[in-house]
Amino acid sequence: MGILIDKMKEDDLAQVLAIEEEVFTFPWCREDFISEIKEGSEFWAAKEEEKIIGYVGFYKIEDEMQLVNLVVTKNRQGKAIGSDLLKWAIKRAKSLGVKKAILEVEAQNTRAISFYHKFGFAEVGIRNGYYKGKEDAVIMWAEI
Ligand SMILES: CC(C)(COP(=O)(O)OP(=O)(O)OC[C@H]1O[C@@H](n2cnc3c(N)ncnc32)[C@H](O)[C@@H]1OP(=O)(O)O)[C@@H](O)C(=O)NCCC(=O)NCCS
Repeated sequence: MGILIDKMKEDDLAQVLAIEEEVFTFPWCREDFISEIKEGSEFWAAKEEEKIIGYVGFYKIEDEMQLVNLVVTKNRQGKAIGSDLLKWAIKRAKSLGVKKAILEVEAQNTRAISFYHKFGFAEVGIRNGYYKGKEDAVIMWAEI
């Protein structure tokens, strides 16, 4: 069955919040998504038969995109869905005039760091205690 990537809707949030809880040590809550959307972030969800299996969010500042999250449900990781979502977000951001991308990722998340390396992201800094004062974040950057 094919995968569709579609703009995330408020109705999707229940599924999205369940995935946040499943995947992250520091999951986002409903208010986090709503305030990000109000401030201009766009979120895109990958769906298979109406079921959300991953999503990506970013916002644009001048010619740069800040990736705010990228997630694939645990049972679908390693099957190129994350790659499809990131390619989609980059294509969409480029259509808005974006030329560079920046993101933060948990310093211990070696899997995601390798994933971003594959897309040409380089590690350019560390934010100490970025995640609720507990975990450091690696800042990664790429020309897209
Ligand atoms: C990181 C994440 C989005 C990647 O999505 P995915 O669909 O699992 O990844 P893909 O199948 O598209 O893999 C693409 C590349 O990433 C790298 N990669 C993926 N899984 C990996 C692993 N377990 N170890 C090392 N590298 C890995 C590989 O280079 C892979 O390319 P290859 O298949 O040609 O070897 C996904 O694993 C995820 O949701 N993780 C939990 C949430 C998270 O950490 N998000 C990122 C921080 S915001």
